[in-house]
Amino acid sequence: MERLDKAKYDDFVKENYGSWEEFREYCVKLPKIELHAHLNGSITPKTMNELIEQRKDKEPDLANFSVKNYIQPNFQLEDFFPLFNTVYRLTDNIKSIEYIARNVLEEFSNDGVRYIELRSTPRKNTEKGMTKQSYAETLISVINEVNKKGNIIVRLILSIDRKSTLEEAMETVNLAINLKSSGIVVGVDMCGNTNGGAFSRIKPAFEYAKKNGLGVTLHVAEIPNSREDNLEMKSVLPDRMGHCTYLEDDILKWAKDNKVAIETCITSNIICRTVKSYETHPFTDYIKNGQPFTICTDDKGVFNCDLSNEYLIFGAINNYNKKQLFEISKKSINYIMCKDNELKRKLKEIWDNFEINNLN
Ligand code: IMP
Ligand code: ZN
Repeated sequence: MERLDKAKYDDFVKENYGSWEEFREYCVKLPKIELHAHLNGSITPKTMNELIEQRKDKEPDLANFSVKNYIQPNFQLEDFFPLFNTVYRLTDNIKSIEYIARNVLEEFSNDGVRYIELRSTPRKNTEKGMTKQSYAETLISVINEVNKKGNIIVRLILSIDRKSTLEEAMETVNLAINLKSSGIVVGVDMCGNTNGGAFSRIKPAFEYAKKNGLGVTLHVAEIPNSREDNLEMKSVLPDRMGHCTYLEDDILKWAKDNKVAIETCITSNIICRTVKSYETHPFTDYIKNGQPFTICTDDKGVFNCDLSNEYLIFGAINNYNKKQLFEISKKSINYIMCKDNELKRKLKEIWDNFEINNLN
């Protein structure tokens, strides 16, 4: 996780937090909201290896699998998407989905995340009796179990892969509409390989989702020269937009004016080389311009990161003290898709209590 030139920030950290250890402790303790986390990208190598152990007797081909560290030298965005061929081999049945969801949510909770809108792409595997519907229902059932414990509040976003046909995208949107009454499914997302084709092909599915009261978030401008796609995406009026590392100024201005928050995934951008360095990450412009944004992990398992460390990096680079970091995390309450006012009140109370006990 040491991709930050820490020495540059030693004086700031000493003055505001005491030490790097105390800074890290503060970032873990700080209540946080996670609004851009892909379930299958959030699985740690440890959980992956546990899945292999559990299944290799009955499925001997798995004995050759071993997951150490996903990131090899010279890693870039093109290397990222093929990783999911391996991940999906290990998460191809309902039991494994249950297992990874429990682990991933527990890890977020242990990291001080108090509210998460987890996202995942429903998949089917006919041979193993898994349908898109049972995939989503399994997640809802694990989420209900986790919500009951009360440490973290979880909602679900169903993702649609960019390479889907319109028919496949509509299938997921209809599934989300049908599952909305669970109170857990709050919206849909468009993700997947940036080479997956023009957004316009599946745009009607997202317009239909909006018409039916679902929240919409889209992976926008992860790579340069995607102007046409960016304009198509903007015209859907999404609630939030992921990445936006190459988003043009006029669309950024539109997002600001319409309070469309950017889900910024700092370490993910650095590892995939869509941003050169932490210091030149566009979040510095977001601060300058008053752009609404929320700090997220994207794929904490793949990128070996956690939300606390993303806050730590953000805090160090921008010289943010305890109170300023707190304000950033609190603002994310405004960007959640869930429209439940009672839930928002409850979240505000958590943040207010933290402020009273830690910052006054
Ligand atoms: P899942 O939706 O739970 O299966 O999570 C993994 C999926 O998330 C991958 O297959 C990708 O489609 C998607 N994903 C994860 N990170 C990114 C990203 O940075 N850009 C676009 N898609 C992503
Ligand atoms: Zn993502």
